[in-house]
Amino acid sequence: MKSNKQDEASRPIGVFDSGVGGLTVVKELNRLLPNERIIYFGDTGRVPYGNKSKETIVHYSLQVAYFLMKKKIKMLVVACNTASSVSLPTLKRHFHIPVIGVIDPGARAAIENTKLNKVGVIGTLGTVRSNAYKKALRKIKSSVNVFQEPCPLFVHLAEDGWNRNKIAQMISDEYLKPMKARKVDTLILGCTHYPLLRDVIKRSVGNKVELIDSGRETAKEVQRILEKKDLLNHHKMNDKNHSVFYVSDFPHKFKEVSQRFLSKELKYVHKVIL
Ligand code: DGL
Repeated sequence: MKSNKQDEASRPIGVFDSGVGGLTVVKELNRLLPNERIIYFGDTGRVPYGNKSKETIVHYSLQVAYFLMKKKIKMLVVACNTASSVSLPTLKRHFHIPVIGVIDPGARAAIENTKLNKVGVIGTLGTVRSNAYKKALRKIKSSVNVFQEPCPLFVHLAEDGWNRNKIAQMISDEYLKPMKARKVDTLILGCTHYPLLRDVIKRSVGNKVELIDSGRETAKEVQRILEKKDLLNHHKMNDKNHSVFYVSDFPHKFKEVSQRFLSKELKYVHKVIL
């Protein structure tokens, strides 16, 4: 018979995002923790969260989290920067499993990297307006200079596959002019979609600026927490035990776009109404 600990370790990790963007976090989790099963929820019927009010985002986040809790997850990862920015304290209060967002891991990596003490943050309007990154950065180092810019069009460029063309470059140059002028040496990609625009962003700000991928940092944090709690799954996934993806609308579109985010075809995508 399995011990309680083994049973807990074999449970999936719940990951949620407002849509397909959280797959950039799944990609990092798969790379780092290939044995971990993921139950993903992409709120494709209600995306974007980035331009919605705090109350609405908290309400959606709780609904999604309750859905994932019913799947007996061992940990909840809020892959969406906007939801992490505004819903994390509420989610942590509601559930007794580890709940982590992408803000703190991204902020920690940025502080470790900056030599000039100047960090830029780009994200959705909601993320920038919440000042979540700014607060997290200042909590680690109160003297750090933080500059924030919302880049809302990046989400659409990434979803439509326009992440490497001339138009993407023009928009990126325009958005990131203030970052260049302020001479930040570290730039947090504070939105799930922005890693797909890494090349154009790099060209806009110059090679010397280090880009921090919050999703990648979050995957490392998940690994640390599972290790510490002795909850890593040591058994390989199989046909019965595999990651599953749920969306609130357009499962076919999700499958199609997910190729760009995950570089592989997703087999198990289901539509559910919350
Ligand atoms: N997933 C969101 C984020 O990381 C971007 C898309 C949206 O606005 O919902 O902030």
